[in-house]
Order: sequence, then structure tokens, then C-alpha cells
Amino acid sequence: MTTVESSAKGDIRDPSLAEEGVRRIEWAEREMPVIRSIRERFKKDKPLQGVRLAGCLHITTETANLALALRDGGADLVMCASNPLSTQDDVAAALTVEYGIPTYSIKGEDDDTYYKHLHSALDHRPQLTMDDGADLVATIHQKRRELLDTVVGGTEETTTGVIRLKAMAKDGALGYPIIAVNEANTKHLFDNRYGTGQSTLDGITRATNILWAGKNVVVVGYGWCGRGVAMRARGMGAKVIVIEVDPLPALEAVMEGYQVMPMQEASEIGDIFISVTGDIHAIDGHHMEAMKDGAIIANSGHFNVELNIEALAGMAEGRRQVRPFVEEFKMADGRKIFLLGEGRLINLAAAEGHPASVMDMSFANQALCIEHMVLQEKPLAPDVYVVPEEIDQDIARMKLEAVGVQIDELTEEQKKYLSSWDVGT
Ligand code: ADE
Repeated sequence: MTTVESSAKGDIRDPSLAEEGVRRIEWAEREMPVIRSIRERFKKDKPLQGVRLAGCLHITTETANLALALRDGGADLVMCASNPLSTQDDVAAALTVEYGIPTYSIKGEDDDTYYKHLHSALDHRPQLTMDDGADLVATIHQKRRELLDTVVGGTEETTTGVIRLKAMAKDGALGYPIIAVNEANTKHLFDNRYGTGQSTLDGITRATNILWAGKNVVVVGYGWCGRGVAMRARGMGAKVIVIEVDPLPALEAVMEGYQVMPMQEASEIGDIFISVTGDIHAIDGHHMEAMKDGAIIANSGHFNVELNIEALAGMAEGRRQVRPFVEEFKMADGRKIFLLGEGRLINLAAAEGHPASVMDMSFANQALCIEHMVLQEKPLAPDVYVVPEEIDQDIARMKLEAVGVQIDELTEEQKKYLSSWDVGT
């Protein structure tokens, strides 16, 4: 790949926040041993030397550690936010000012600025993209098609993005190959479940300071994120109701001991509603219409479309901010409904996202998949690819080693038995 120096400078809230950002990035690094060891190897081997890379991810302390590994691997890297409300401004400042990675993101930016920042990252003319939600890929395909001549591949972090990309591939619209990091076992089984589970409750707690014990918590969607949220809410003493449209996970939720019912029914009894579906209007106007006075609504899926906020606003006679990240909607009949974090993913809007230890594995997948793409001798055809199994297994092995856990290996006799069919009863 041929390379060009970047002249971009980034767009951040306040460069004076950089010092604090550095301290917090170093704190997160302590819990990211897999990324640390990849960074050490990248520093020596420079597998990404001169490769132009644009990353559209949540700008957090964990993302910064991924960015540093890629930079040390030789990448010519710029970053922008994958959500208007998830940026940690001190991290954006540290990346830009201290670490020389131009970053375009400001917490609370409006939608125009959000897209302006995506375009600034694309002005870098990336050869590879890293996305979380597929906005960068969609912008390339809709507005910056000239870049399709030079982009050779990309990665996608999240379920919502993978759904979008698969739809593009099905339509024959996808112009370059993308590895779906979310499909790795070392990603979704951990990040989506334990990460979303913990950080979602963290975000709602920080925003509201509610007591979970004894509350009716309605978890809308029982994928890996929903499982995590339901599990942690139950752990806090909540009575958990699960809403699910797919009969299989719905049955699993039943056997886990949760109440499972249609959303309309749950709407009348829930105290706290949390959407994690990846789909539009999972909590719709007619659901909000049925909610109790004081109901709290939050979204922890990638996009705020999961909640029909327009319908809520349309029903309300008045609205006001009552605490940071808590907006009160007053209905004509006097009921109050509280919307958290503008319906944006509450774990990143009101808290700090998933803890570093779990992002360690997600971002190890990102780093190794980027390297995998760079090392391809023949470019892959445009499509959505799973993470190579060796990468997934290596990350699990590295993480176990890092946490000091040893496991057994199959004996030769056991391996032979597993590959034979002649030994029965
Ligand atoms: N997605 C969820 N949590 C995150 C974090 N801490 N950093 C980046 N992306 C995330």
C-alpha cells in the first residue's frame, strides 16, 4: 500500500484536558493486558507501517489504548466519534495533543457536527476503516464514493453495524470487505453480555441514583446485551421482565426464570425500561401511553431509534431537564415519564462505557483483524466476514494467561476418540 502523511489536526473541546486524559488512559491500560502485548509486538514488527486508517469508535480511554497500539504498529491514524454523546473530551484531547492522533469528536456535538467530523476523518483518505455502527461505511458509500477506489477493507464493532452491513452486502451495495468483529466469541460473549450488563446499570444509576432492589425492570431484547442487562438487574434485586420477539431466546429467558410477556402488557407494570434490540421503536408511543407515572426509559442499543422519542415529545405537555441525563416529560393526565440520555446509549452517555478489562478483548479483535487485512496478499472480495478462528482463540488464550488461569489440554487418547466413530457403548 502507498502512504501519504496526514496533515489533519483534529477537532476537540479543550486541549487543556489532555493531561487528565493521559492519566485516565494509563489507568485503563492496567486492565488491558491483551492490547498491551499486541502493542508491544506491533511496536517491534510495525505490521501497519504507513497504512492510512480512520477509526469511527466511541472516544473513550479504552479506545485510546487501541489507537495507541495501532499507531505504534505504524498506522497513520485519525479518529472520530461513533456517537454524538459518547466522547470523553479529555481522551479526545489526549489523543490529539499528547499522542499525535488527530481526533474529531466533542461530547454533545449536534448531528451536523457529528457528520462533519466523519467527513474530516474521511479527508484522511483511509485505506482501512474501523467502525462502530457503520456510519463511516455508510457515509463513504452515500457521500464519498471516490474513496471506494482506495479503501481496501474495514472492521465493524457492533451488532447494529453488522446488521446494516449485511443488508448492504445482500443488496450488492457493499464496496469493500469488512470483518465483523462483533461475531467473534471473544467479543459478543463478553463485551455484549458482561460489558453492556454492567455499564448499562452503571449509566442508569449514575444518571438517576435509583435503588434497583424491588423494581420492575423491563429488558426489551434478549440478545447477548439483553442477557447481560437482565442478569445484572436481577443481581441488584430487581424483578426482571423480558420482552423478546424470537421464540428461542424468549424460551431461554423463561427458563432463566424471568417473566416474559408482550411489550404492551409490560408497559403497564414496568418501573424502568431498557431497550437493547438493535431495531427501531422497540419502545413505541402506544407503550409510553400505557406507562405508569414515574416510569424511566433508557436505551442501551447503538442508535436512539429504539425509542420513539418523537411520539413521547408529541404526547407531552411540557418537558424539562431535571438532572444531567434525565429529562422529564409531563403528560396531559399529569403522569411524568423520564427519558435518560436523550435515548442515546446510556452506558456511554451517562457513564464510561464498558470497563477496560472487557474492551481489552473487543479491541484485541479490532487490532488483529486490521493486521489480518493488511497482511492479505490478495484483496478480499467485498462482503461481511467473520473473525478468523485463530484470532478468536488466540485472544481467549492471551486473556486467560493474563489473568493467571491455566487450563488442561486434551490427551492424545481424547483427541483420537473425538475424531473417530467406531467406539460406541
Ligand atoms: N462500547 C461500549 N463501551 C465502550 C468503551 N468503554 N469504549 C469504546 N467503545 C465502547
